[in-house]
Amino acid sequence: MDNIIILDCGSQYTQLIARRIRELKVHSEILPWDTEMKEISGKNPTGIVISGGPQSVGDVGAPSVSEKLFDLGVPVLGLCYGMQLMTKLMGGRVGSGKRREYGRAVIELSNENSFLFKDIQSSFQVWMSHGDHIESLPEGFSLEASTLDGVPAAMKNSDGTIWGLQFHPEVVHTQNGNRILENFLFRVCKCRGDWDLGNWIDNMTSNIREQVGSDAVICGLSGGVDSTVAAVLTQKAIGDRLECIFVNNGLLRKNEAEQVLEKYKELNLKVHYADAAAVFLKELEGVTDPEEKRKTIGRTFIRVFEKEADGIADARWLLQGTLYPDVIESGHKGKGAAVIKSHHNVGGLPDDMDLKVIEPLRDLFKDEVRTIGKLLEIPEDIINRQPFPGPGLAVRCLGPVDEERLDTLRAADSIFNEEIKKIELYNNIWQSFSVLLPVRTVGVMGDARTYSEVIALRAVESQDGMTADWVRLPYDLLDVVARRICNEVPGVNRVVMDVTSKPPSTIEWE
Ligand code: XMP
Repeated sequence: MDNIIILDCGSQYTQLIARRIRELKVHSEILPWDTEMKEISGKNPTGIVISGGPQSVGDVGAPSVSEKLFDLGVPVLGLCYGMQLMTKLMGGRVGSGKRREYGRAVIELSNENSFLFKDIQSSFQVWMSHGDHIESLPEGFSLEASTLDGVPAAMKNSDGTIWGLQFHPEVVHTQNGNRILENFLFRVCKCRGDWDLGNWIDNMTSNIREQVGSDAVICGLSGGVDSTVAAVLTQKAIGDRLECIFVNNGLLRKNEAEQVLEKYKELNLKVHYADAAAVFLKELEGVTDPEEKRKTIGRTFIRVFEKEADGIADARWLLQGTLYPDVIESGHKGKGAAVIKSHHNVGGLPDDMDLKVIEPLRDLFKDEVRTIGKLLEIPEDIINRQPFPGPGLAVRCLGPVDEERLDTLRAADSIFNEEIKKIELYNNIWQSFSVLLPVRTVGVMGDARTYSEVIALRAVESQDGMTADWVRLPYDLLDVVARRICNEVPGVNRVVMDVTSKPPSTIEWE
């Protein structure tokens, strides 16, 4: 199988490069920039990409790679910082720019016939950093494109196997970006394009079978796409030796527990259902501090889960729906990546359960998990579910968490998403939800004065939850939602909209 290795120098776009490459049916894998040469060559890469990064190549401690990388006989593509790094390592000169922000630029090709720019017009728009740039190319390299101001935008070595681009082909603002990556993969690296998720399922089920032998596996189901796909895949491998536990913490959305259980039944999963709503609500009584809420829920979850798992015989494995972004995130910490991510342990499982962990999805991105889910015939409404936090509605019910306020929140939330689904926006939004604020304001209903709580609407788009932008929902939708919530949900007389991005806000309010 082809494998493109991406050496991560800390760019916010590194994961995007990997995903774009995989979308072109070539497997790709991200490694930290300081990975040993032995490990890199041991993976028999078909090509190597050096990512961008926030630093200057001259900075103390800035990411670097071994010069031996260029002697492996494997094509290399350096993007932005990656291009500057290869220039420095091979004897060219890099100049410092004043500004480091990104922006659009138009580039002109010097050689339209080169492999990388095959079938692309001679002048097009790209997304690049206006920071450092190449002042003189390394010896033996030729200039393949420049910006209109004469900044080198693309270079290649004499046999066309080592390329540097000052811009980011992986970003949608770069015209022809996908074509450039495609040309790198298929014309320069001679990849075959054989990364096939159908084969992946067959290989993974036999791996799981081999790994667990005759043991039983326990899985905590949440109703979300990751745990469901992991469970259905594992069930395909070992049948009913997979024992799933679904904990209802009483903090789920309207009718969610019933709907999810129904789906699991259709999927023939063996599910132990723990209806622990009353236990969680009791523990949450009087708790209003966000961190205290999370800790209380985490503690209670572990207790309930352990009790449920206790009766399962021969269980030696714990199945988890960990995805590739979590693996990269925890493996690369402190290696130049300028990523800010809060860590959510709530909903996580006890680490002293003496079970070995099995994580079949740890090599996949979310969109690949969704594709696998479709191939496994998991219903669309599970596959397309928006992410939902482990502590559930507790972190959206600001102030005290009790049955009455949760019902208010559930009713408002269900109206909001019902209207979003009606205009077919649901699947294009990362998350859309309501938040109940512990603030009372004055209103008027009929002729009477009201003094009730406020619902805030939150809808964000995001790639991975690490950063997010608020969604510009149509005014007509907001109008219908606000009217319906005030008319249909007792205890609410005002609806407001959250128009902050992440950062500076987080997606959830607590
Ligand atoms: P924030 O609020 O930190 O959330 O911007 C980022 C993403 O993570 C989800 N989230 C959680 N997921 N357990 C989870 O499994 C949690 O405790 C948790 N807290 C937040 C949030 O919904 C968003 O998608």
